[in-house]
Parts: sequence; structure tokens; C-alpha cells
Amino acid sequence: MTTNVLENLQFRLAARPVGMVKDSDWQQVAEPVRELADGEILVKVLYLSMDPAMRGWMNDAKSYIRPVAIGEVMRAGGVGVVIASKSPRFAVGEHVFGTTGVQRYWIGPVAETGPSFLKVDPALAPLTTYLNTLGMPGMTAYFGLLESGQPKAGETVLVSGAAGAVGQTVGQVARQLGCRVVGIAGGKEKCDFVVKELGFDACIDYKGGSVRDGLKEHCPQGVDVYFDNVGGDILDTVLTRINLKARIVICGAISQYNNTTPVKGPANYLSLLVNRARMEGIVVFDYADRYHVGMAALGQWLKEGKIKSKEDIVQGLENFPQALNMLFEGKNFGKLLLQVAPA
Ligand SMILES: NC(=O)c1ccc[n+]([C@@H]2O[C@H](COP(=O)([O-])OP(=O)(O)OC[C@H]3O[C@@H](n4cnc5c(N)ncnc54)[C@H](OP(=O)(O)O)[C@@H]3O)[C@@H](O)[C@H]2O)c1
Repeated sequence: MTTNVLENLQFRLAARPVGMVKDSDWQQVAEPVRELADGEILVKVLYLSMDPAMRGWMNDAKSYIRPVAIGEVMRAGGVGVVIASKSPRFAVGEHVFGTTGVQRYWIGPVAETGPSFLKVDPALAPLTTYLNTLGMPGMTAYFGLLESGQPKAGETVLVSGAAGAVGQTVGQVARQLGCRVVGIAGGKEKCDFVVKELGFDACIDYKGGSVRDGLKEHCPQGVDVYFDNVGGDILDTVLTRINLKARIVICGAISQYNNTTPVKGPANYLSLLVNRARMEGIVVFDYADRYHVGMAALGQWLKEGKIKSKEDIVQGLENFPQALNMLFEGKNFGKLLLQVAPA
């Protein structure tokens, strides 16, 4: 196909943000798509995953992955369709998942080894599910909960960010394992969804009342596993309610990502000592060689209707800056996706 008739709109990092990301931190660039070289494919991006981690990738700081450079296309996971191919590995029309970046088209070589694209089958699950329950958030929830949280039937599992991407799957998996599951989320609507639609036993509205009171009411036997997505004051409060040998999974700390002052660490950490408890950080990429195991388990539960995959889809690549900020304003309901082109 002639590729240079296609215009590629890209969002590149223009400046390192201070606090919340501003429109001026982005540069929008539109350029024609170049011709393919041998071994390359052209992917039309359909959906982009909006992730809280993207905020961290914009900082010039040491982390589990290198920062996005100034002038570079913003990193993002996405699902797309191959529309041109000079690689024997991918055929036109195949759907793929990979790090597409925040742009309309991804073009490049697909090496035999190293980071590349995975084929996904829209006949097995909607494409959006591959960015949620069957994608990175689902793998984070599945392996983080099972391997670090190590929940046992009958135990109380508490998860913050309960109506979000990772949180929804953590709670639903814990229910499948026979645990008592309590969520923490912002607002009555989200809490109602978590209990009525996702089947959690209870949900604490941290915006509508005190987390401390909510924990006393809904976790009367204390907390055995806390899957923490938010950090800050909520983590500190939960530490006062943990049980002997409790496990705290540090998955994220979204309440701290836009701080212009130092990160607020838990003042109540000595509760770990008193309770011989454990607090452990997890990074989803560490489980990459076993994603197929997580996908099979979650896929089976989805197929049997035992768990749900809830997505919140914003339309239009041009709305990327506003969409990303929704995560930090609590405006997303389920896994936040940006639809770039009709699927
Ligand atoms: N370790 C890993 O490998 C890994 C992988 C994926 C994600 N994560 C982390 O997991 C967490 C959840 O990610 P996600 O993709 O599932 O996002 P998400 O929960 O779908 O969306 C973010 C949610 O965070 C909540 N939030 C925002 N600001 C908050 C604040 N100040 N205090 C409390 N809650 C706040 C909001 O929900 P409410 O309306 O309920 O406040 C918002 O909807 C993030 O911290 C992310 O960085 C880690």
C-alpha cells in the first residue's frame, strides 16, 4: 500500500511536568507515514491504554523503565491492526497488542527477539479486554494478588482503587478464591458498582466518609491482604487495621504521583513489626514469562461469566491530554482507554 498518504498524528513529550500534566507539556506533530522497509510492519492504532504509570515515565528519574525523552513520542500500550507488512511474521488484517505510543500509526521492524507485538484474537474477546482484564492491568492484579498477597479462603482482602482497572480484577479474583473482599473507591456510584456489579462484599467511599470508620465497619476481623493502588493517607490508615502476618502489596501510589512535595510515606509502618507483617512492591513485567497462565485463568473466568471486564472509553486521539488527567481526577470508571480509530 502507499503509506505516505496517511498522516500520523503524534503526542510527543515537550516538557517534564511539575504537578498535574499541562497541555503545554505536550507537542502535537503530524507527519506523513514513511514507506516500509523489509522486515517492518505498519500498525493502525485502535485503542490506547491510559495508565497512571505514564505520569512516572514523564519524570527524569530512575525507575523500573527508562523515562520518556523530551521530543519522544509518549509511551503507551495499545491495540491495533496491521495495515501493511513486509514481515513474514505478521499479515495484513491481524490484530496486535504492543507499545504503540500515543500516535495514530506505529511503523517499525518486528524482530524475532526483543520487544515486539503479540497477536490478539477479537473472536475470543473484545479488543478492549486485551488492554484490561486480559492485558497489563489484569496480569498486575492476578500475579500481584496471588504471588505477593497470597490470599487464603476466608481471609479479608482489601483493595484500593477498587473501581479502576487493576482494582476491579483484584477484588473479583479474590472473590473467586473464597475471600471476603472489601474495596475502597471514591464516590457512592463507584462503590455501588463495585458491590452490586462486581460482587465485592463491601466498599468504603473514601470521599464520602472516614476510611478508619469504614474499616471498622466492613473489616471487623481486620485485614489479611491489602492490595494498595493509592498509597498516602489511605495506606497509613489501613496499617492500623492489619492482622498478624498480613501481606500488603504495594502496586501503586497514585495519590502521590503529582506531588510537588516529597512522597508521603506511612507513619504507621511499625504496625508491620507488631504484626510480623510484610509489605512488598510488585512490577507486572516480572511475570511476563507467565502472562499466558494469567490470561488462561482470567479468560476462563470471563468466559464462565464469573468475572467482568469494565472499560471506560474516551473517543479521539486529540483528547489524549484530558483523558490521561482523568485518572488523577478519579473521573474514569473502570479501565480507561482512548479510542483512536473505529475498530
Ligand atoms: N506495579 C505495577 O506493575 C503496576 C501495574 C499497573 C498499575 N499499577 C498501579 O496501580 C494503580 C492503579 O492503576 P490503574 O491502571 O488500575 O488505574 P485506575 O485505578 O483505573 O485509575 C486510577 C484511579 O485512582 C484513583 N485515584 C486517583 N487519585 C487518587 C487519590 N489522590 N487518592 C486515592 N485514589 C485516587 C481514582 O479512583 P477513585 O475515584 O476511586 O479515587 C482513579 O480512578 C496505580 O497506582 C498504578 O500506578 C502498577
